[in-house]
Amino acid sequence: MLKLEKINTYYKHVQVLKDVTFQVNAGEIVTLIGANGAGKSTILKTVSGLIRPKSGSIKYLGNDIQNMAPEKIVAQGISHVPEGRRIFPGLTVFGNLEVATTPWRRHRESIQKDLEKVFRLFPRLQERIDQEGWSLSGGEQQMLAVGRGLMSRPKLLLLDEPSLGLAPRLVQSVFETIKQINQQGTTILLVEQNAYAALQVADRGYVLVNGHIVLSGLAGDLAADKKVKEAYLGG
Ligand SMILES: Nc1ncnc2c1ncn2[C@@H]1O[C@H](COP(=O)(O)OP(=O)(O)OP(=O)(O)O)[C@@H](O)[C@H]1O
Ligand SMILES: [Mg+2]
Repeated sequence: MLKLEKINTYYKHVQVLKDVTFQVNAGEIVTLIGANGAGKSTILKTVSGLIRPKSGSIKYLGNDIQNMAPEKIVAQGISHVPEGRRIFPGLTVFGNLEVATTPWRRHRESIQKDLEKVFRLFPRLQERIDQEGWSLSGGEQQMLAVGRGLMSRPKLLLLDEPSLGLAPRLVQSVFETIKQINQQGTTILLVEQNAYAALQVADRGYVLVNGHIVLSGLAGDLAADKKVKEAYLGG
């Protein structure tokens, strides 16, 4: 479904991604593991078109997207839930969800269906539909950010640190929801600091060190790998 080949991404003159090559197959949950600053968020931003790679190719469903505008990439079915939730201030829960459906679909009827799907996953959001997005709790904001990502009907969902800053009980429910979204037919590329939980839910994973992919494999194999255990799973 998604294939990055020798992607090199820079911020000004500093190279952050170095010949990054990996793929995500339809139906999978794939996780990217790496320390702070390894380049995980940069990979997601490069896929969603927020940053242009200097070289390399990104194929999505067989088409090159590395030079496509972000809004075109969303319209093709890739949705990016950024790190830190980024709830739009001044908009209610409804407004935050609705804004993610424009401009390529404005019919209230089809929005209603998508809203119902989000509310089945996150009933809490329906109870708070008219509440200002910024006034939600941290966990509720995370639900809203994921829900907003689903409003564009993604085939591929990019999730950046969905469990960051949440209480342990909520972390568990975030990972259950990720599994549920996947079972409903959405392929997922998941970035997580919580490598242990990510490897529990994922099919496969890649380990990123200083912008290089150094290891890949089935999630279970990575979780059992001595080096991965020492570096990311607390021994
Ligand atoms: N806009 C930017 N301008 C310059 N450097 C940046 C920019 N964004 C990120 N970087 C640098 O690029 C490197 C990779 O950042 P990135 O956000 O991709 O890391 P990450 O793996 O997501 O880390 P974390 O786990 O802390 O979220 C870091 O060294 C960071 O300081
Ligand atoms: Mg990050």
